[in-house]
Amino acid sequence: MFTTNPYAELSASISPTIMQTYVIVMIALVIGGTLFDVIHKGSARYFFNSSKKSRERGSREVGSGEAVSLAIQTAASEVLTSSEFCNPKRRIAHLLGMYGFVIYLLATIVMVFSYPTPATQTPELWPMLWCIGALMVCVGGYWFWFFIRVDVASEGNSVFRLVRADLFIVSLLASTTFGLIWAFLQANTGSMWTFVFLVLYLIATTVLFAGIPWSKFSHMFFKPAAAFQKKVAVANGSLDNLPRPADRTNPEDSDRHSMELLKDAPLNMGLGIKREQPNHY
Ligand code: HEM
Repeated sequence: MFTTNPYAELSASISPTIMQTYVIVMIALVIGGTLFDVIHKGSARYFFNSSKKSRERGSREVGSGEAVSLAIQTAASEVLTSSEFCNPKRRIAHLLGMYGFVIYLLATIVMVFSYPTPATQTPELWPMLWCIGALMVCVGGYWFWFFIRVDVASEGNSVFRLVRADLFIVSLLASTTFGLIWAFLQANTGSMWTFVFLVLYLIATTVLFAGIPWSKFSHMFFKPAAAFQKKVAVANGSLDNLPRPADRTNPEDSDRHSMELLKDAPLNMGLGIKREQPNHY
């Protein structure tokens, strides 16, 4: 299974043209769903207004060279290393899910379009990357779902409680899990369960890409824009209208500085008050 292209094997029963058309329709759904999200939620208008307000409130102008440098910093930090997450476990889970999904997606597109039938030998690298990517999504995603997310870890809700906000993570996990099971069964058995898991794989994948207007899928496009905007607000001095961080050397900031120190104070300060360990998300 790790070295066979599951789509080339499937071409014995489903024409490669149908598979390629399906992938193109999914790409169109991502573009359409994201544009719908942008218009429906007014995200583009929100970003434009907030950047205009930030420029007006700012004490200095951010030049184009500085803006490019901030964009590179955002890509290198918030996007590539998920640096927005304070909780290290959540950050690792997100990195596994994010890189796993990108690797799995790339391998799928290469195998479906470049090696659609057994007539063109698929280099072993691609099926391997496909499996590794899908497994990374499963490890990061199930870890997040069962142990890390706030509803379960802090609010004590059941791991089986589902709300609409879970559409993205659940359909992503269902797609990669059913895909792996289908590929395994197809490579090793050929039983009727292969067909059952193929259908489940297609349903979950269609929900993942067609459900964008109702799910958190498009955060992967919005979050980088928001992180960049935040950096510009710090650079131009507007700070999105938030108070500036406390300056330890400024006596006027002594109250705020004491509050900062309190954050690092021992959990039991000898006052009989037991403070909980902070748990950031
Ligand atoms: C292939 C790309 C990506 C995948 C598969 C992915 C996956 C996920 C998942 C599963 C969650 C948890 C969702 C939930 O709470 O239900 C999440 C949250 C988050 N992601 Fe991503 N992500 C991707 C790209 C990105 C990028 C590029 C950024 C930012 C620069 C980003 C920033 C965040 C942040 C800040 C959260 C937490 C916010 C929240 O809980 O609403 N993600 N991501």
